[in-house]
Amino acid sequence: MAAKYCLAPQCFRLSIGLRAISLMRLRPGVMIMKALVTYQSSTGNTKKVAEAIYAELQCEKVIRPIKDVDDASGYDIIFMGFPTHQFGADKKAVEFMKKHCTGGRKVALFITHAAPEDNPEVAGWMTKFKEAASGAEVLGLFDCQGQMSKGVNLILHLSTDKKMREWAKVDNSQGQPDEARLKKARDFAAGVLKKIEA
Ligand SMILES: Cc1cc2nc3c(=O)[nH]c(=O)nc-3n(C[C@H](O)[C@H](O)[C@H](O)COP(=O)(O)O)c2cc1C
Repeated sequence: MAAKYCLAPQCFRLSIGLRAISLMRLRPGVMIMKALVTYQSSTGNTKKVAEAIYAELQCEKVIRPIKDVDDASGYDIIFMGFPTHQFGADKKAVEFMKKHCTGGRKVALFITHAAPEDNPEVAGWMTKFKEAASGAEVLGLFDCQGQMSKGVNLILHLSTDKKMREWAKVDNSQGQPDEARLKKARDFAAGVLKKIEA
């Protein structure tokens, strides 16, 4: 008897919940969206952006590194994040995009780089990411600064290229992505969802 009284409210809530879900499915123009947030990240910057995006999504959602994603079908939107490596996407990132950005699937890209966003070269690097994802419908691209690791800074310092040595000296990326950049990432995520719902 006790069990009956104890379970009853839960059953009631469950039935209301299921009814709401079925209504959402039936109402034209409204769907329950399922999103995948996936990322590549060696030092945690792109992962931070991924987590900010994930936190913002008001829908059914999954987050995992690209290495743990084999089958990306069954999602209405895939947020894919990568760090910039040598002025573009590295081999694993390109392979991932070529494999999963197919058939006009809806995708949003987020990219981190140690250079500041207003560095004139950044736009060209972003074009390379968009090209790798060109089999998808790319609903948006967000990019932001992520702090340069000590190892990369040392490599730049030791580079034979004067421009690289200069860059190591003026690096202003420590502490990025900061809260202001993560807020922009959350706004980006909300904007992408609005585009799908429109
Ligand atoms: C091998 C390598 C190459 C990189 N090349 C670039 C580059 O071309 N431009 C740039 O702005 N940052 C470059 N970076 C810096 C990273 O893009 C940046 O620190 C990024 O936020 C790292 O993200 P993660 O912590 O998610 O790995 C490079 C880093 C590595 C390790």
